[in-house]
Amino acid sequence: MKNKSPLPIYTSQSDPDGKLLAQPSDISIRKHKVNTQFARNVYIETYGCQMNVSDSELMAGILTQAGHHTVANIDEADVILLNTCAIRENAETKVINRLEHLNHRKRREGNLIIGVCGCMAQHLRDKLLEAAPYVDLVMGPDAYRNLPMALNAVASGDPFLGLQLDKSEDYADIAPIRKEGIRAWLTIQRGCDKMCTFCIVPFVRGRERSLPLKLLTDDVQRLVDEGFKEIVLLGQTVNSYHDGDNDFGELLWRIAEVDGVERVRFTSPHPADATDSMIDAMENCPQVCKQLHLPLQSGSTQVLQRMRRTYTAEQYRDLVSKIRDRIPQIAISTDVIVGFCEETEKDFKQTYNLMEEIRFDSAFMFKYSDRDGTLANKMLPDDVPEEEKARRLNEIISLQEKISGEINQSKIGTTVPVLVEGDSRRDSDQYHGKTDTFKTTVFPKDNAQVGDIVNVKIQSATAHTLIGDIVT
Ligand code: SAH
Ligand code: F3S
Repeated sequence: MKNKSPLPIYTSQSDPDGKLLAQPSDISIRKHKVNTQFARNVYIETYGCQMNVSDSELMAGILTQAGHHTVANIDEADVILLNTCAIRENAETKVINRLEHLNHRKRREGNLIIGVCGCMAQHLRDKLLEAAPYVDLVMGPDAYRNLPMALNAVASGDPFLGLQLDKSEDYADIAPIRKEGIRAWLTIQRGCDKMCTFCIVPFVRGRERSLPLKLLTDDVQRLVDEGFKEIVLLGQTVNSYHDGDNDFGELLWRIAEVDGVERVRFTSPHPADATDSMIDAMENCPQVCKQLHLPLQSGSTQVLQRMRRTYTAEQYRDLVSKIRDRIPQIAISTDVIVGFCEETEKDFKQTYNLMEEIRFDSAFMFKYSDRDGTLANKMLPDDVPEEEKARRLNEIISLQEKISGEINQSKIGTTVPVLVEGDSRRDSDQYHGKTDTFKTTVFPKDNAQVGDIVNVKIQSATAHTLIGDIVT
């Protein structure tokens, strides 16, 4: 397989918090020979969603351009940057615990620089230095351009705070440094203007801004030339993308037209922006995968109103029907929050019933976590007891496990195209890959190569995995 560059790869798999396969993933790049005496070895550890993974790639690009190195092995680092998530309280607790651990090493080594970047940095601001006074730099998502300057500044011993949100910052001129692989994440939009009452994102990532369409299609061409097969477009409300008269549907078409693109996906769209233009592109453009992650949040219209989601349960249900009518083979997944402010048992049952009725392929499910600074935190009582939140969460998790299992079982005997991603984690004689509908599939290698699309006949299935054999 032709690929970007012969870079070492390193990924750790522990689960920090949250969705979208949130994994700390570590960016590593080849060391460049540079003759600056301040060149540092930087280790970047990523928490949270794919947007953070993409931002870490950006940070690696900025640091490398400035002559620093990013390293795969934390023991080689003299700078450790945690790129953090603030979406739920336990995401932040995890980082505080990690910082305490890193501080032991700092006390031993003396000259270790520790930085906290991303959403939690922007959320806690200088309060982070009260909780962890040994932190050297605190930088929000719009401040990464200042990273090289910050690394020089902290050498004086004073902490550096970069917390300005900047609607004009899109990092359009920065070349991210990506991990090797077949799937590339491409940020097409930053920030969010939706202001759901439970959500911290608009406060820590600022106003919505879209990157220019031409720049994105050029990026995709470059990614394809580097060997990537699948492009995943990223944005907080990815389908509100616009560049002049070009909307998200147009962008999907234009990206799919780039010579050599095999698959295009995106995450996460907002139901209120699921226009016919988007649905048309999903239906008619062969490269656009038949998979949609469509966050529901609640099945109760009253709760949706308190969340300011701007749609009702009926509108969501109708939207799913319309999409399924147009694209019958589509897989739809979702996000659900239970125990939001003033959620009654009746509200919860409506969520449960809607999930049972719609039968999502999969779902990320969360207990509501009150976040300082959000509209709900200011205006609504967080009044569902913790045990009750846990009970509701467990109920929908059991329901979803059953449904996901049944949907996957129904694929037994069918043959599905799978893009080969690499060795299966459990067995190096097997590959794993994803179907067009984003289902993880495991199968014996045969003579297939990573990056191939192979036909796999499904022999068995669990709630999370399809298992089969390559057929010709
Ligand atoms: N539009 C973004 C949403 C980011 S947050 C995207 O999906 O890319 C991801 C999910 O976290 C949300 O859809 C929501 O289900 C959940 N979430 C957000 N804020 C939360 C909170 N305060 N408590 C619990 N879950 C939350
Ligand atoms: Fe958050 Fe709602 Fe935007 S969930 S990211 S405010 S669409």
